[in-house]
Amino acid sequence: MVQEMDLLKRFDAYIDSDQKIEAKDWMPDAYRKTLIRQISQHAHSEIIGMLPEGNWITRAPSLQRKAILLAKVQDEAGHGLYLYSAAETLGVNREELLDALHKGKAKYSSIFNYPTLTWADMGAIGWLVDGAAIMNQVPLCKCSYGPYARAMVRVCKEESFHQRQGFQIMLNLCNGTKEQKEMAQDALNRWWWPSLMMFGPNDESSMHSAQSMKWKIKRFSNDELRQRFVDMSVPQAELLGLTIPDEQLKWNEATGHYDFGPIDWSEFEAVVSGNGPCNRERLATRVKAHENGEWVRAAAAAHAAKVAKRKSLKTDAA
Ligand code: 3HC
Repeated sequence: MVQEMDLLKRFDAYIDSDQKIEAKDWMPDAYRKTLIRQISQHAHSEIIGMLPEGNWITRAPSLQRKAILLAKVQDEAGHGLYLYSAAETLGVNREELLDALHKGKAKYSSIFNYPTLTWADMGAIGWLVDGAAIMNQVPLCKCSYGPYARAMVRVCKEESFHQRQGFQIMLNLCNGTKEQKEMAQDALNRWWWPSLMMFGPNDESSMHSAQSMKWKIKRFSNDELRQRFVDMSVPQAELLGLTIPDEQLKWNEATGHYDFGPIDWSEFEAVVSGNGPCNRERLATRVKAHENGEWVRAAAAAHAAKVAKRKSLKTDAA
């Protein structure tokens, strides 16, 4: 018991002095557990997040736009693989995590359960969804768990490109024909509130925030990051000449922030519990892609076994 107390004291001292906890370091089981929870859901979000945009690759309006969208979707796949690797440093294996996702037992971000109805959705997703992801992920570069923090550095660099290309799509549409501007406004109307929900429940209803902030996994609360996102997005929407679908949105001189209307948490709960517009479709597409990829995994495993056998024969012969 004394030994564990010493280990806990050292762990707390590491966290308090902003040192990184590494995979080989002792850590409380609850710290490990919440990191596996958050990192695996983050990885699932990246992989499922490929689907709404993947839906438009064959319908991009130009070769250049197709190439940009392809690159973005490939980036998301890479983010997912990065994050599964970060989760595996905590002693879980990827197959188990994927199995939980495919069986509908694992969460991923609510935002990816909404349909992508027009090309303008590609702009709104890049601008708002990746913009919200950056707001949430930049602080994670200072997360107390080393592998997660380091994965985030690379992810955030690529997210900035994602956000810029999305905003450019919106700008092109807003400077285009009347119909194109209307398409951009329609996409903003449909993606604005779900983007605010990405930051999670209000602080008072967030069951993990307090502990995650003590452990410096989370550096700012859900509401703080949501507020920063609103404050950043309002001037961007004005620049586009678009109207944010919130009549209560108003600059508050006293606080130096925008006040905004209430979020529909019943919609959030419905989407998170699997009853969003596209939950079933997203999961079915994901399971099918995984099944269709079985031959690639088998071939890679067979090749790895052959290489390992050759290596062991060489060491025996030496
Ligand atoms: N969608 C689905 N579930 C959500 C959610 C959302 N938008 N927001 C919160 N939740 C879940 C939490 O996972 C938790 O459920 P659990 O106990 O079963 O895990 C519950 O609601 C309570 O929420 P908390 O605020 O207490 O939970 P957290 O402290 O984990 O905070 C979070 C939620 C802010 C999403 C945090 O997990 C986080 O920062 N995760 C890492 C970033 C991330 O996953 N972003 C998702 C989008 S990734 C993305 O956009 C990729 C980009 O390339 C497009």
